[in-house]
Amino acid sequence: MIEIINKLRQDFDYRIGSVSNSKQLEQIRIEFLGKKGQLQGLMKELRNASPQEKPKLGKDINLLKQHVEQTINDKDVSLGSKSFKNSSENFDTTLPGRKELTGTLHPITQVMEEITSIFFGLGFQVEEGPEIETDYYNFEALNIPKDHPARDMQDTFYIEDETVLRTHTSPVQIHVMENREPPLRIIAPGKVYRCDSDVSHTPMFHQIEGLMVDEGLSFSHLKGIMNIFLQEVFGKNTQIRFRPSFFPFTCPSAEVDIQCVMCNGKGCRVCSQTGWLEILGAGMVDPAVFQSVDYDPEKWTGFAFGLGIERIAMLKFGINDIRLFFENDLRFLKQF
Ligand code: FA5
Repeated sequence: MIEIINKLRQDFDYRIGSVSNSKQLEQIRIEFLGKKGQLQGLMKELRNASPQEKPKLGKDINLLKQHVEQTINDKDVSLGSKSFKNSSENFDTTLPGRKELTGTLHPITQVMEEITSIFFGLGFQVEEGPEIETDYYNFEALNIPKDHPARDMQDTFYIEDETVLRTHTSPVQIHVMENREPPLRIIAPGKVYRCDSDVSHTPMFHQIEGLMVDEGLSFSHLKGIMNIFLQEVFGKNTQIRFRPSFFPFTCPSAEVDIQCVMCNGKGCRVCSQTGWLEILGAGMVDPAVFQSVDYDPEKWTGFAFGLGIERIAMLKFGINDIRLFFENDLRFLKQF
């Protein structure tokens, strides 16, 4: 009988090796472990064995049974059917689905993309420039020579004597005009840096520069483009005002304010009690700037503007402290 047990084990090991699906496995399980299966047959045979042989044979049959059960279980798991069975048995169809946790674009990125696409629709191309600039591009080429009082308008972070973190996106105008011939219609979004911090100023913020150069451009073209853009962003009934101002690289220059949405123009701490918030500077390109890039100021005219993205985002979303954008508090960011 000992040979029969060994033969059965060999037979089982051979057969289980070629099983490739759960149906075949089930057939083998019934054949070996079923009520009328091979192992039950052996147990019946055991009755006929002598009392001396019985304990040893009984032990061998049990070992074979354990081996068959264990091998079938392992095979079941490796075929994947067992884990599937378990997971489907434990699956509770009444449980609510698990919400997918996805991030969202930062509100500043959202506003930046919206503004970019408005200007894109008006035929402007997107350009980029470096955040670390030379004194020449950040100031000199923009008609702000050394010791010019206008340098005080922007509290500059100096890296070295001649190298600064750009204080505005206007140097991109120079890079573009040095490399391309007019007519031009570009915008340049990006980060800028100033030593400045309160409820409406941060040391790093975002601007979008705009520049259009062509023959016969006038201040009314600038006003027209600014009106279209601001009404697209804030709606047709938006209160806007142009205020005469000064920038060394534009002449005439203006600042554009929008009525404070926090207090509806009554005056609050966000608008420093004025009822208005300044969002952009603009003007006609100064002929001195054209000369620095070898454009003929007799032939070409142009306008430029530079707007603060954070200010626009504050007005759009009704946010009363610009610093909230950069604290990375998810409770704040998740609202957008
Ligand atoms: C400039 O930076 C000029 N380069 C803009 C310009 C471009 C004028 C082309 C003419 C032609 P100004 O310093 O005013 O200008 O800044 C432009 C806008 O940036 C401001 O209207 C304001 O919305 C925003 N801004 C300025 N400083 C800060 C700051 N510290 N934090 C957040 N936003 C600021």
